[in-house]
Amino acid sequence: MKKIIITGSSGLVGAECVKFFIKKNFKVIGIDNNMRKFFFGKSGSIHKNTIQFKKDSSYEHHNIDIRDHKKIEKIFKNNSKDIYAIIHAAAQPSHDWAYQNPLLDFDINARSTLILLNYFKKYCKKSSFIFLSTNKVYGDNPNKIKLKSINGRYYPKNKNHYAKGFNEELSTDKCLHSFFGSSKLYADIIVQEFGKNFNLNTVCFRAGCITGPMHAGAELHGFLSYLVKSTIKKNKYNIIGFNGNQVRDNIHSSDLVNCFWNYLKSPTKGEVYNIGGGLKNSISINEALTYIESKLNIKIKKKYFSKPRSGDHAWYVTDYLKFKKKYPKWVQKYSIKKILDELINLYN
Ligand SMILES: NC(=O)c1ccc[n+]([C@@H]2O[C@H](COP(=O)([O-])OP(=O)(O)OC[C@H]3O[C@@H](n4cnc5c(N)ncnc54)[C@H](O)[C@@H]3O)[C@@H](O)[C@H]2O)c1
Repeated sequence: MKKIIITGSSGLVGAECVKFFIKKNFKVIGIDNNMRKFFFGKSGSIHKNTIQFKKDSSYEHHNIDIRDHKKIEKIFKNNSKDIYAIIHAAAQPSHDWAYQNPLLDFDINARSTLILLNYFKKYCKKSSFIFLSTNKVYGDNPNKIKLKSINGRYYPKNKNHYAKGFNEELSTDKCLHSFFGSSKLYADIIVQEFGKNFNLNTVCFRAGCITGPMHAGAELHGFLSYLVKSTIKKNKYNIIGFNGNQVRDNIHSSDLVNCFWNYLKSPTKGEVYNIGGGLKNSISINEALTYIESKLNIKIKKKYFSKPRSGDHAWYVTDYLKFKKKYPKWVQKYSIKKILDELINLYN
């Protein structure tokens, strides 16, 4: 039986991978210590996903910290012959949290990625290593294009190079990265270096907003999931900066896992792909609020803060053409409406 190691296996992306690879008859080795609860409190806990997965005989759970290199090595060593791939989705995922805790953020996001890469090279170098990177590696460079706001949403002002979304040509230099962006950028680069220097199958997926039913949305991380949840609970929603005109494209976690599957069938070495929902799946906070309000017939209590989060993107849309060209069989099944309706039905 082929085996796959998934770090962050109970989080949004990891959990979607667990479900997918069990269906494909893999033995799944999951690593997750519910650090998400430590980061974001009770609402961030992913414990119920772990309990659910443990019931499946194709799933083996390790409640360990990815920083614990001895225990991580043991997992790689014990399974070395059968490992088909590693999907590294464990992380401290929040911009704001990293600002308060840069050392711990670096340890988890950057140093632990290097630890995993070392064992990947030592024990299963013929397999593939998938890393969940982020559009925050581009820092606030996306904010350098001129925008106009129309009906509660930003649009690029001119028909510039990036009007349909940001591709991998966007520079990662000359910008404010945030501490989260910096730790992820280190990890992103080192994943590429292992691919290029040692001729290994490694890839970075630089994602924007990922969402889906397995998301334990918290205020500091999980935009749409948190928004739908707090609306249903009739909680106040804080809109930080840009008057709610800020735009994000959203990709469903199941569409993302399908990207991984396409990559694994034809892996490349040290590659980077921007991945996201694209222009069609983009929405502003104001638009999302209006849609949810009308669907649920609820008036959301909103509080506006004029100062944006440091380095926060005003308009970020992914151009995923590089990935689509290389893997033309990949199709996105979830529209933004389908994503929102699924979340509304889930929490309502
Ligand atoms: N969700 C998004 O919108 C988004 C966007 C861009 C990039 N990403 C990246 O995708 C990856 C997965 O994100 P997600 O949304 O699934 O996050 P998530 O928080 O839902 O999942 C991450 C999981 O990792 C676990 N974890 C964290 N630190 C750990 C540690 N030290 N040891 C063991 N387990 C640990 C957490 O408990 C959690 O279950 C992350 O690298 C994130 O930076 C996410």
